[in-house]
Amino acid sequence: MDKLIVHGGATLRGSINISGSKNASLPILAASLLCDQELIIRRVPDVSDTNYMVQIINSLGGEVERSSGTIRICNKSIIDTAPYDLVRRMRASICVMGPLLARTGRAIVSLPGGCVIGDRPVDLHLKGLEALGATTEFEGGNIIITAPKGGLKGAEVNLRGTHGPTVLGTDNVMMAAVFAEGTTVIESAAAEPEVEDLANFLNAMGAKIEGAGTRRIVIQGITSLGSVEHTVIPDRIEAGTFMAAAAIVGEGVTLHRVCRAHMGAINEIFEVCGHRVEYNTTGDSVTVYRAENPVGAEITTAPYPGYPTDMQAQMTAVFATTPGISVVKDTIFPQRFMHCAEMKRMGADIRVDNGTAIVKGVKELSAAPVMASDLRASAALVLAGLTARGATTISRLYHIDRGYENIDEKLLQLHARVERVKE
Ligand code: EPU
Repeated sequence: MDKLIVHGGATLRGSINISGSKNASLPILAASLLCDQELIIRRVPDVSDTNYMVQIINSLGGEVERSSGTIRICNKSIIDTAPYDLVRRMRASICVMGPLLARTGRAIVSLPGGCVIGDRPVDLHLKGLEALGATTEFEGGNIIITAPKGGLKGAEVNLRGTHGPTVLGTDNVMMAAVFAEGTTVIESAAAEPEVEDLANFLNAMGAKIEGAGTRRIVIQGITSLGSVEHTVIPDRIEAGTFMAAAAIVGEGVTLHRVCRAHMGAINEIFEVCGHRVEYNTTGDSVTVYRAENPVGAEITTAPYPGYPTDMQAQMTAVFATTPGISVVKDTIFPQRFMHCAEMKRMGADIRVDNGTAIVKGVKELSAAPVMASDLRASAALVLAGLTARGATTISRLYHIDRGYENIDEKLLQLHARVERVKE
């Protein structure tokens, strides 16, 4: 197991390329299961979550070749059962359920457990697939979902849950509906750019999907999909994480290969804090200049286009040394505050109560051995380490390797002082 040593105090400068989006790549790779022709998907980040998805596709019978961010897949004939050993490693494997059901008439996928960021039910995924006529059984920890004899039928379904829409639930129903007879309407759909990217991928293969990126998606069923080449959108959360690094210890940090249109809520909070965020005219490159006298802010996470829950831990790290009081409220995953306990061990002044963190900015943090608990919490600890006095050791780095491509290399390129070592 690797750990990362972050020597605090270096000033970040220079430029890096942002990778393709992990959360767009995962459902797009899963969607390949709908098609028996060759598909080429570019800018898939080389992170362990995409590796697990490739392994799942392999185990279902697909042929996958991967080189320099490009994945070629041919799923000529596939089976309907996703292996527990791989599925249990990544909650996002649930998004093979929709495509397997649509292509083979049945999907057997193990029921994902909760995880450190909170209870993670799949009731809305099942509600949507059942609305298309599927029936569900639970056996030995697996969900067995079966299409009716005449195949799935289009229907209207509302996917709104208590915490808002569901991203992967919307993806699952959208993918299953591609082959459902007639028209499917998803109300209260997730509008995240990653959902839109999946719809663009499916449409390029021949699907008929309208409204992705809004709260209402309409899918006209078709009978087959064809070959396509697709380039995955930039990872807005990776971009936001490096913007946070620039806001903590930067002196002009430029990120290439971003998409300004996806960064609205993230940009806004940096600007409210006083940091300068400058895009080029094409909106695919951004430079962040740290404010001389930054101020705190309030964020409340919300479904897109609101502030992403996947950026709240990193922003909490920014607030830890921003003068004044900042407030971070997570309405999507109210228990997602594991990073705060670790940051407090580094001298941060944070009180967490009922899904809200109140952060009182301190002058400086001090290095400590800390433990990564989930992907974004680990990123927050790396950010805290950049500004702490001394060397912060972050163990269980595999959490960060799930979703950040070469994070240590990219930080070194920006002149941070970090070392990846074996535990
Ligand atoms: N929910 C339900 N029922 C369901 C599904 C979800 O009640 O059937 C609830 C969840 O408990 C949560 C809310 O709905 O309170 C939203 O969850 P959602 O289903 O949207 O989450 P997800 O689709 O499983 C994706 C991302 C997460 C990101 C969330 C929210 C991927 C692979 N994962 O998960 O990303 O936090 O949307 O934006 O796209 C990450 O990258 O670190 C990460 C956790």
